[in-house]
Amino acid sequence: MSTVPAGIPRHLAVIMDGNGRWAERRKRPRAIGHRAGARAVNVCIDFCLERGIGALTLFAFSSENWGRPQEEVGALMKLFLSALDREVSELDRRGVRVRFIGERERFPASIRERMASAEALTAGNQRLHLVIAASYGGRQDIAQAARSLAEDVLAGRLRSDEINENTMASRMALADLPAPDLFIRTGGDHRVSNFLLWQLAYTELWFTEQLWPDLDVPTLQRALEDYARRERRFGLTSAQLGGHSPENPSA
Ligand code: IPE
Ligand code: IPE
Ligand code: MG
Repeated sequence: MSTVPAGIPRHLAVIMDGNGRWAERRKRPRAIGHRAGARAVNVCIDFCLERGIGALTLFAFSSENWGRPQEEVGALMKLFLSALDREVSELDRRGVRVRFIGERERFPASIRERMASAEALTAGNQRLHLVIAASYGGRQDIAQAARSLAEDVLAGRLRSDEINENTMASRMALADLPAPDLFIRTGGDHRVSNFLLWQLAYTELWFTEQLWPDLDVPTLQRALEDYARRERRFGLTSAQLGGHSPENPSA
């Protein structure tokens, strides 16, 4: 991942938003929008494979999305199940490693089993690291990291003065990946919606009005071009950088 061309993000994080509105504009049930959104997932994965982006984290379902009408949650579960059955062998063939973050114990056993087997099947792949955030919440992620450190302190494995940014980071989801360089949200809303709160500290944010099911390559290309033009200062001054971006301190 360290050999990608300059200006290409090593890790892209995406909030795939706008499925419901896409369907509502067509006077169709929201579930149809989610199904159309599954196609856009492939557009995004293909783009990362082509451009040599090493890691892609997709927000598929938030902790808060469990509160949606039962019918919509049920339709999403069916869609996850069929997508896992349909896509995993092809992802494996293309060298994609698949992983899930979030509270997976909240999913039905049928989905948990498919998540585990997808992870096991693709564990050795290295071309693209695909992370699906499902039943994920950034606050929950931070809370579980704090709890894990507290348990170590209680058991005498860690001193409380060893709790710092590094030990916290090591207990967060995605601890083994560089922090996202670029964040994209479709659907026109300018917010993070409890996605990777800790990990996005110095991520470049990019928003588009385009609804997720309409996602296309030119839009992703525009995001990459904008990203390549930005100066990432990580708190330093432009003069200090001397034209070179410093290493992301949290990577
Ligand atoms: C994103 O699309 C997918 C999920 C949250 C599961 P939405 O369903 O939030 O679509 P909008 O924002 O209502 O259009
Ligand atoms: C964020 O979208 C979660 C996912 C895309 C999975 P939401 O549609 O749930 O976010 P809000 O409610 O507009 O903030
Ligand atoms: Mg939404």
